[in-house]
Amino acid sequence: MIKKIAILANGGDVAGFNAVIRGIVKTAENHGIEAYGFLDGYNGLLKNDYIKLSTADEGKAEGILPKGGSIIGSSTNANVFNYKITNENGEIEYKDLSDICIKNMQTDEFDCLFTLGGDATQKSARDLSTKGINVIGVPKTIDNDVACTEITFGYNTAVSVAMEAIDRLHTTGETHHRIMVLEVMGRYAGWIALEAAIAGGADVALIPEIPYDIEKVASKIKNRQKRGKNFSIVVVSEGAKPINGEMTIQNMRDNGNGVDNTKLGGVGQVVAKQLEELTGLESRNTTLGYMQRGGTPTAFDRVLSTKYGTKAMQLALEGKFGRLTVIKNGKLDDVSLEEVVGNNTEIGAVSGNTEQSNIRKVTLDHDLIKTARSVGINLGD
Ligand code: F6P
Repeated sequence: MIKKIAILANGGDVAGFNAVIRGIVKTAENHGIEAYGFLDGYNGLLKNDYIKLSTADEGKAEGILPKGGSIIGSSTNANVFNYKITNENGEIEYKDLSDICIKNMQTDEFDCLFTLGGDATQKSARDLSTKGINVIGVPKTIDNDVACTEITFGYNTAVSVAMEAIDRLHTTGETHHRIMVLEVMGRYAGWIALEAAIAGGADVALIPEIPYDIEKVASKIKNRQKRGKNFSIVVVSEGAKPINGEMTIQNMRDNGNGVDNTKLGGVGQVVAKQLEELTGLESRNTTLGYMQRGGTPTAFDRVLSTKYGTKAMQLALEGKFGRLTVIKNGKLDDVSLEEVVGNNTEIGAVSGNTEQSNIRKVTLDHDLIKTARSVGINLGD
């Protein structure tokens, strides 16, 4: 019998966090179950810092469906299995503090923990589940790269923002006969760039899965010039890299072990400069950044988040723990967290772009690749 549940939101913010929280809380309330939210992701679980979530009497979870961000905060650097602390001597140490989290859950009698987050968050969720905690994951990220699901919440909003940016860049490109480069997020997967390029009618899309040849991109733009088109729109994923080259890294962070400390960024500027030299056309780069994560969710993301939230609570009611809510063959479903972490079996191991990490990248035979090529979008190859 479930009486009390807790939710945590972890990783970079996305539109839809609150809609998922609302879906879980409303379903819980329908069954007389109390809901709470740990503050600032896994940090709240570690510090036992939580608030009551309710949709009644102006409770915290009321009126949050269209709200961006997360009403219970989030953390991008908390791996409780490898937590960064400063010891008494002022030195940095990494400690496995997961037992404290488990004790907190047990002492305050939480029957289930919902983990809203991407691959790293679900990795820790799987590790907690291995240690006996009832966990249910919900796949979040604008990057759309969580394994085992066709779509994550927050992604559709990010693509919509990127599409609008492309529409607006078209104006300047056409008026001033320029190459307009748009750098979008996505980490090591090109979903946002690819889908936004199709939605916005871009001429080029560079994604991490297809290392690019800048000469081929320049040829595409020159061919357009020959046909009287003196402008081009180039969408570049932050993880795009040239053939035989490396990704452009803005800086390395020190957020601790077990989290991806690589901060990507800057490839848009590099591509714009090279294209200006190769084509003679003026080029400008725009880096979309956190615009993609902020603001109100699209209708699609509100519905997807509500489906995910209600499904997650339904799984708890059925006693199906250690699962992740997913969309599989277009349908709402669930898979084991074990499947989601794949080869990343070692407890507390590093997430992100490692050989073990099980993130979902664009496959070269994907419909989006075929569609992009059919409408003449150059993919840098
Ligand atoms: O994973 C989501 C994401 O927005 C990526 O697309 C991007 O690379 C990264 O997070 C940025 O992270 P931060 O908030 O730490 O700058």
